Amino acid sequence: MTANAPAPTSALQNDRFLRALRREPVDRTPVWLMRQAGRYLPEYRATRAAAGSFLAMAKNPELACEVTLQPLRRFPLDAAILFSDILTVPDAMGLGLYFVEGEGPKFEHPIRSHDDIARLAVPDMGRELRYVTDAVSTIRRELDGSVPLIGFSGSPWTLACYMVEGGGSDNYSKVKSLALNDPAAMHRLLEVVTDSVIAYLDAQRQAGAQALQVFDTWGGVLSPAMYREFSLRYLKRIAQELPRGDDHAPEGRAPLILFGKGNGAYLEELAASGAEAVGVDWTVELGNAARRTGGKVAIQGNLDPVTLYAQPDAIRREVGRALDDYAAGNGGSREGHVFNLGHGMSPDMSPDHVAALVAAVHELSAR
Ligand code: CP3
Repeated sequence: MTANAPAPTSALQNDRFLRALRREPVDRTPVWLMRQAGRYLPEYRATRAAAGSFLAMAKNPELACEVTLQPLRRFPLDAAILFSDILTVPDAMGLGLYFVEGEGPKFEHPIRSHDDIARLAVPDMGRELRYVTDAVSTIRRELDGSVPLIGFSGSPWTLACYMVEGGGSDNYSKVKSLALNDPAAMHRLLEVVTDSVIAYLDAQRQAGAQALQVFDTWGGVLSPAMYREFSLRYLKRIAQELPRGDDHAPEGRAPLILFGKGNGAYLEELAASGAEAVGVDWTVELGNAARRTGGKVAIQGNLDPVTLYAQPDAIRREVGRALDDYAAGNGGSREGHVFNLGHGMSPDMSPDHVAALVAAVHELSAR
């Protein structure tokens, strides 16, 4: 078998996560956590210190594999997520990603003009993003069928936010101004980013990713009309055009999860997009989400990550509430629910509290 030919799904020892995404019965609700690999783990901080920087670590397939596996050695999580970043795609498009300690991600060459947009092209996955697909195949080999591997990308809108703002932003004034003043230019930007996202997710699937998640982290900062025009339209294009693999292949299909912060008003539309699952934040009631999506998709979420600062008994109570809320809206059944946080973890969270969360999900959902 070559490095790029993953082992068949039948060898998968824990398929709870993939079964839940297909809305099939499971023995307990699967759980993984957004940003489950990161600075809250001392072993992550050690690997990062040895590598020199976050980017050096993410661009080295062996180190990316090592940090992907670190949380799985501590906690019985039901899925691994590729250790990388959503900003690898604009970096590969020539924007020059770098990190300033304490300030987050920045670009050397943000999008400032029509010419900047016209120059953008879909990156060559086998060259500029080869380190990502190499990490995926390395992780698949090292996981050895223990749990499935999730690949991911940013949504076109969320990537465009960073590309136009040049980094993080408080009010998204540059990218919203571009969308309002020059919608045609904004759509040209979103089109080429969408083509890149589709090629990127497809390359991760072909390298061995068994599920794919799109992070629409900043969709919720838009008004409803602008959300539909500049974010949802491109999420739908991804859901419709992204190949999932062959049903009859040993690997089966790789389901697509659309996660969005602040997407609670759009669940019906997201469920009709063609994606297999929708990820929601903690402002959404899971039972309400289940009712409104009517079994068309699986639902992933949605504990407020700040709950991890509370004591283990409070964490357990909130986990129970989320599990029961989902079931109440899903005809009394826990099927079709993947437990997660409503957004990513923070560096000062306690590994012991993560252990309490994962144990609570498995114990309280056991059939
Ligand atoms: O979930 C996982 O464990 C997989 C790894 C992952 C990272 N970033 C690692 C990372 C994933 C899925 C992401 C996605 C990502 N990156 C998003 C979308 C999800 C979300 O959180 O909303 C966004 C908006 C980014 C952009 C980005 N990259 C930010 C805002 C930061 C934080 C900067 C900082 O200093 O905290 C990053 C860097 C980053 N990506 C870190 C990690 C673990 C921290 C790097 C470090 O070790 O210093």
